Amino acid sequence: MNKRVNSYNYNPLQRFIDKNIRKKLNRIPCFSSLVEDKIKWDALMLLILILFCICILMFTITILTLLNDELILERQFYPPQPYHGFPPNVTDYVPSGTTIYHVTKEFGEASMGGLGQIVTALAKAQAESDSKLDVNVIIPRYSFLSDLHRIVSFAQLSIQVRDENNNWKDVIFTVGRFFWKFTDNPNVLSKNPSKTRKIGVYLIGPSKNFKPLNLAYKKVLNNLEIYSTPSKLPQEWKDLYFCKAAAELITFLNSSPESSLFDRVDPRGVDIVHLHGATNALVLDFIKQFYIEENYNGKGKGKGKGKSNKVSNSKDEILSSYPPPSIVYTLHDYQEEQYYSNKIININKFLDLTNRKDLIKYVHGRRFYPSALAIDNSEVATFVSASMAREMVEESLEFEAKELIIPSILNRATTGHWIGITNGVDFNTFNPFNDSKLLEFNSNFPRNIDNFDDELLYAELIEESSQELVINAKSNARKHLIKEELLNQKDFNRVLLLYVGRFQYNKGLEFFSHAAEIIAKYDAKFIIMGQQNNYPLKYLYQIQSKYPENILIISDLELQSKWGILFRAAADLQFVPSLTESFGLVAAEGLLFGSSIISTGVGGLSEFLINKSSKYMTEGYNSYLFKLVNNKDKDYNIHNSNERYQLVQQSIEGLKAVLTMALEDYIRLKNNLQEKEIFIRNLIKDALKLSWNRKDGPLNQYTKAYSLAMSNEQKNLKVNVLY
Ligand SMILES: *[C@@H]1O[C@H](CO)[C@@H](O)[C@H](O)[C@H]1NC(C)=O
Ligand SMILES: *[C@@H]1O[C@H](CO)[C@@H](O)[C@H](O)[C@H]1NC(C)=O
Ligand SMILES: *[C@@H]1O[C@H](CO)[C@@H](O)[C@H](O)[C@H]1NC(C)=O
Repeated sequence: MNKRVNSYNYNPLQRFIDKNIRKKLNRIPCFSSLVEDKIKWDALMLLILILFCICILMFTITILTLLNDELILERQFYPPQPYHGFPPNVTDYVPSGTTIYHVTKEFGEASMGGLGQIVTALAKAQAESDSKLDVNVIIPRYSFLSDLHRIVSFAQLSIQVRDENNNWKDVIFTVGRFFWKFTDNPNVLSKNPSKTRKIGVYLIGPSKNFKPLNLAYKKVLNNLEIYSTPSKLPQEWKDLYFCKAAAELITFLNSSPESSLFDRVDPRGVDIVHLHGATNALVLDFIKQFYIEENYNGKGKGKGKGKSNKVSNSKDEILSSYPPPSIVYTLHDYQEEQYYSNKIININKFLDLTNRKDLIKYVHGRRFYPSALAIDNSEVATFVSASMAREMVEESLEFEAKELIIPSILNRATTGHWIGITNGVDFNTFNPFNDSKLLEFNSNFPRNIDNFDDELLYAELIEESSQELVINAKSNARKHLIKEELLNQKDFNRVLLLYVGRFQYNKGLEFFSHAAEIIAKYDAKFIIMGQQNNYPLKYLYQIQSKYPENILIISDLELQSKWGILFRAAADLQFVPSLTESFGLVAAEGLLFGSSIISTGVGGLSEFLINKSSKYMTEGYNSYLFKLVNNKDKDYNIHNSNERYQLVQQSIEGLKAVLTMALEDYIRLKNNLQEKEIFIRNLIKDALKLSWNRKDGPLNQYTKAYSLAMSNEQKNLKVNVLY
């Protein structure tokens, strides 16, 4: 066993104390020479005394903060074990009308980042498939949603929360509902008109009678504010409230089902609860507790409309007539999610932690870390990247605070209940074939991807091609951006490198100045489009002022939503220098818009990016990848600015080399338009292979996960254990 104590969030105070103690020790030899001089001696004593007091004070403060919040984990080595994926006998069969409830903080218009995009795309793919699934979503009732949808009142329910005197109080809340309608076309290349479909969205509203939970989700003006909270309402209470309320809603839906959207099937309760992310992990525990209370302890209280008052002593009878929902938990991120935690005093407001010996193992210091709980107790746990789910198990992938979740993951992996499912790409969000703006400017991509005749392309003059060409669409997009004065005349012939995303260290922003150097050298254009984050915008403007002709920064959101799609269509190369990436949706989108990718190829990116691994390779690649060079081999900490800086510094030469190669390739392709057309078409084909509903693709994999989760033996076992 290779053990060393690793303290995360290494405390700056601690560092200060360490340094001071070291300094003092160094001074000891000088003491003797000072003894003669009494005044100096007194002064020194006084100084030492003061220093001593300061040290004591700092020490106390450090200990206090340690006890409070710092997470100290003993570093562990986990021997690799084989990753099994699904047990071989699992199929994608689920009964017709199977009901799924996604529990998430982000969905549809209320999406801020990757989580919302993924959950929305998954729910859409499930709703549009012929897969017989009845798809629903449970999210908070963010106030701005009322402006966008006609929300009807669905139920009034209550949960118990402790008040300031520690007494349980009934906290009443209403649940609203609307149907999220969307039209799209699962096959973007087909000319068939898109169909309208709908997903039921249930909204957990603020409390009606309990302060400060009555403030939850109010005054949320847009999707960027969904995680903000009024000062009077602690974030953790809001999260815990949502977990308990969502569990109550699910329990209610399960005991008094509505008639199904599917005409010929009987009403069903809740078959599958699909929890997304660690903030919703506790929903699982609340559901199981409510189920036990209602069925075994006879506490059914008949709240809400039509709730039956089930009291029974015969466990078997209940299990056969009213099974608890099967729970699937999806971990969306391995850099942050395991850190998600709640203070024990906050947890205790919602759940009696003192009576729950089974939960003690999730407590570290004064905090409760729910992610492992959901991995342990869900019927199936999944991760959003197949390659990384495998790496975590087989190659002991290094990431921070892995000790919090890896033991649970390994445990589930041995039985085939830890599954990596790589996301698909929702081509309808940014659809180069049928986007209204692209259509308006004659820049929509032709649909003739599968039925294009390469030989005919070479047989004809390119200007007179009888087949519609992607390069023409791309060049029209560029012309229009020049007309709008977003690009200048010279840009028409420049190679365009596009970055789309947040301005975040994590995304590799520290590479930008070095990329800019090469861009300027080849007189190409670097378009940096995205939203402010932790990387200061002023640094980007400094780079721009150095190379004003070759860099364009678009941080304005309105400009982006208006012209973003044309920039995507016009680009030659997409820049994705991320330091970590679970999937790398922007890279897949880049391919779809016919751009090859300059990237680190980390994480999920490695599943679909194929490196141009030698200068002489002429086809079969879709990207130019450079290695993140790290002396410590994978074991670096991107939250530590020093380590991250080192990592970037050591990787710059690699970036410059591949960027140079890419620019030279594209400059050459300017005079080989046939070759360029074929090359771009291959990029698009690579992207289309990533659809949600492809054969054995993510949609199919999630259905398998549901099928596995619904196999009853497993579930009953879980209830028995808790009972
Ligand atoms: C699949 O195999 C496992 C044992 O390997 C068994 O317990 C389970 O019942 C089987 N499931 C189905 C659906 O046949
Ligand atoms: C293209 O988009 C329009 C409007 O968004 C839609 O009505 C039409 O059905 C779409 N066509 C296809 C083939 O998806
Ligand atoms: C990709 O290929 C280039 C050579 O073209 C090489 O320098 C680079 O290291 C490769 N990248 C990765 C991630 O292997």
